[in-house]
Amino acid sequence: MEKKDIVVLAYSGGLDTSCCIKWLQEELNLDVVAVVGEVGQEHDEDLDEIRAKALRAGAIDCYVVDMREDYADNFLTKAIFANALYENKYPLLSALSRPVICKYLVEVAHRYNAKYVAHGCTGKGNDQVRFENSIAMLDPSLTILAPVRDWEFNTRPQEMEWAAAHGVEVPTTQGSPYSVDDNMFGRAIECGVLEDPWTEPPSDIYKITVDPQEAPDKPTYVEIGFSAGVPVKLDGEELSMVQMVEKMNVIAGGNGYGRLDMVENRLVGLKSREIYECPGALVLIEAHKALEDLCLEREVLHNKLELEQKWATQVYYGMWYSPLKEAIDAFMASTQLCVTGTVRVKFYKGSCTVVGRKSIYSLYNEALATYGQDDSFNHQAASGFIELNGLSARNWSANRRWAGAHTDIDDAFANPQPLSLKPSVLEDSTIETLG
Ligand code: ARG
Repeated sequence: MEKKDIVVLAYSGGLDTSCCIKWLQEELNLDVVAVVGEVGQEHDEDLDEIRAKALRAGAIDCYVVDMREDYADNFLTKAIFANALYENKYPLLSALSRPVICKYLVEVAHRYNAKYVAHGCTGKGNDQVRFENSIAMLDPSLTILAPVRDWEFNTRPQEMEWAAAHGVEVPTTQGSPYSVDDNMFGRAIECGVLEDPWTEPPSDIYKITVDPQEAPDKPTYVEIGFSAGVPVKLDGEELSMVQMVEKMNVIAGGNGYGRLDMVENRLVGLKSREIYECPGALVLIEAHKALEDLCLEREVLHNKLELEQKWATQVYYGMWYSPLKEAIDAFMASTQLCVTGTVRVKFYKGSCTVVGRKSIYSLYNEALATYGQDDSFNHQAASGFIELNGLSARNWSANRRWAGAHTDIDDAFANPQPLSLKPSVLEDSTIETLG
């Protein structure tokens, strides 16, 4: 028998990717190797069952790969370094998980000498871009297939019908009306009634955050210890990054913190309404920012703020493995060397507030900042500083006032431009001399 080409498929266990297995086999005559990425998502079924399901659907093999540690240590830490929030809000939980999954898809493809890699994304979302860009940057010789974009059935009932006709298991329970993507960094929920941005999200969509109204009536305090930008201690206890994210989800989510209701700009050009619950991600970023405020020199901090936006947009756009994103990572890493210290955070009924921060690398100098007795700041130096700092703008202001006070150029030169650019209001009588 002629040996078939192999395709490595990112498999979730859901109806879409189960149909992908059958479709790749029947329509393209490929042998399918399924890869399930464990990134800390919720499972309706256990992983053994998902694996068995892939094999029943016709996969020749199925790998369940535990990517959690890699994801947390090498992807989420970088997101925290960059305080990454797309459009200043969304901590990129879906966007961050795609490149780690792609890393393993490509690895398995190499092991099997596969020509193809496939994903189950639709043609409307960001995730197809992330899969395809990441795979292509990791190995440009692989050909990428996107069955969901190519097959002829578009609606859920049509898909169920096709599945039943081709021997793919159809879910027996009435599926959720929402489309959910989740991993340890949070949950993304869209579709159904959420498609109307005027509709308040129904309470049953939330799984890892309590309603703030139902959160404890007493505040909860935690102390997060960072070492070179990485959150490593919770209330003095050393934790791995996976444990840190998981614990923060429980504590913050239990206090009703971490819900986002957002209309965002997708890369493919449309706006979409998405609900997120990502308590751990948001707390860690908030706390990390607070420590940076203490430890980063002003110009580094200001420039970092701009690069943070760039980083988040690159990652949202599926550019995890791009040279720009990696170059920004190098900048971020260099800024993190002294982001070491402790941040105290208070949760209360849906809010999360940083209420304390300390570090041996703190650049906050009490002797300079105080208005009390121990003030060592040189007040006299301020006036010279202001004079030169504002010189350019004052020069502009004086010129425009002078120019504006004359009707023509001869008149203007008959009344020369005042030379005095002294900062003092009394001495700088520009306005009067203009008369
Ligand atoms: N809008 C988010 C993003 O593009 C999440 C997409 C995940 N999908 C979902 N079914 N909610 O990163």
